[in-house]
Amino acid sequence: MNYRYLGRSGLLVSRICLGTMNFGMKDWGCDKQVSSKIIGEFIESGGNFIDTADVYSDGISEEMLGIALRDHQRDDLVIATKSWFRMGDSPNSKGLSRKYILEAVENSMRRLKTDYIDLYQVHGPDWFTPMEETMRALDDLVRQGKVRYIGCSNYYGWQIVKANAIAEHYGLERFISGQHLYNIVRRDIEREILPACADQGLGLLCWSPLASGFLSGRYERNQAPPEGSRISYRKNIDIPRYFSDAAFDVVDELKIISNETNKNLTQLSLAWLLYDQRVTSVIIGPRTVEQLNDSLHVSEWNLSPEQHERLANASNFSQGYPMEWVDSSYANISGIEEFSPGHFRHPMDRN
Ligand SMILES: NC(=O)c1ccc[n+]([C@@H]2O[C@H](COP(=O)([O-])OP(=O)(O)OC[C@H]3O[C@@H](n4cnc5c(N)ncnc54)[C@H](OP(=O)(O)O)[C@@H]3O)[C@@H](O)[C@H]2O)c1
Repeated sequence: MNYRYLGRSGLLVSRICLGTMNFGMKDWGCDKQVSSKIIGEFIESGGNFIDTADVYSDGISEEMLGIALRDHQRDDLVIATKSWFRMGDSPNSKGLSRKYILEAVENSMRRLKTDYIDLYQVHGPDWFTPMEETMRALDDLVRQGKVRYIGCSNYYGWQIVKANAIAEHYGLERFISGQHLYNIVRRDIEREILPACADQGLGLLCWSPLASGFLSGRYERNQAPPEGSRISYRKNIDIPRYFSDAAFDVVDELKIISNETNKNLTQLSLAWLLYDQRVTSVIIGPRTVEQLNDSLHVSEWNLSPEQHERLANASNFSQGYPMEWVDSSYANISGIEEFSPGHFRHPMDRN
């Protein structure tokens, strides 16, 4: 297993993070026994980074993790969880207010049977709570020793920059990670969010790196999802999110590269994300031990630059405005510098 530093921090995490959203999930998830086996094998392989959230199966995912972790060295692991979703009937049982965050952390620690959380993430943006209130509450948790590091998830690029600017201004803890939807058929975050993360020293953690399993090659153009597949249970969410001609073109290219490399579509898709050093970890979501072991093949294996580029081109992704404008206008003001600003990298990163 290879490890990467999480953003601008000293925390080393495995580049494969074990996601636990499937644990305890009716229909498309796995039960207590299988989830314990998955956790055991993941840790055995050298994985140290595990992601959950209070909302996954209404707290059951955290509880299953807590039970499974009794057989492992807690301090060797980096446990990440999140809050934001509504978890109770009271008006305040949701969001990112001081009152709720402090309550949510206690509840997560109880379910996880731990007295600290390594990475506490806000699961989404709260449009009503002032960011100062949220960042102070998170900072308090770090000072109290209940939380080691903080991160965000599903934030817009401007919110990432604003939150860390507030933290900087008041001398509070800064976000070190951003957890976002990123896979080879949904590359939206390359426009604003990924550059914001790189600028602010946040390591990117990719959720749904296989596009809910679409990138395993299990699905066919113009055909209904096979019975029992995850997408067959989540048609309303995943079909509009992933099924398009362009996405199936990517699957076709994955199949060609798979024949050349002896790696399957899943492994190629995960390796495509990890090729970018701004990505710290891919959060895998195995339903079975076999799926876990299959994904673990990319613990150390990397794509070649040529394979990476072929897949990037197959996905037909457009950076859109303002990047198009900058591309077409840049020559007008420059050309004598040794380096030109890449959209894909921070301008100061010249390696
Ligand atoms: N922050 C957020 O808002 C957010 C949102 C979503 C997820 N997450 C995190 O990200 C993690 C991963 O997300 P995800 O579950 O959507 O990931 P994903 O990898 O895109 O999808 C997982 C699904 O893909 C299939 N699969 C998994 N491994 C496979 C393999 N090796 N070969 C073939 N098929 C495989 C399984 O579906 P089948 O049952 O069809 O085989 C599985 O349920 C979650 O557990 C959670 O920790 C965070």
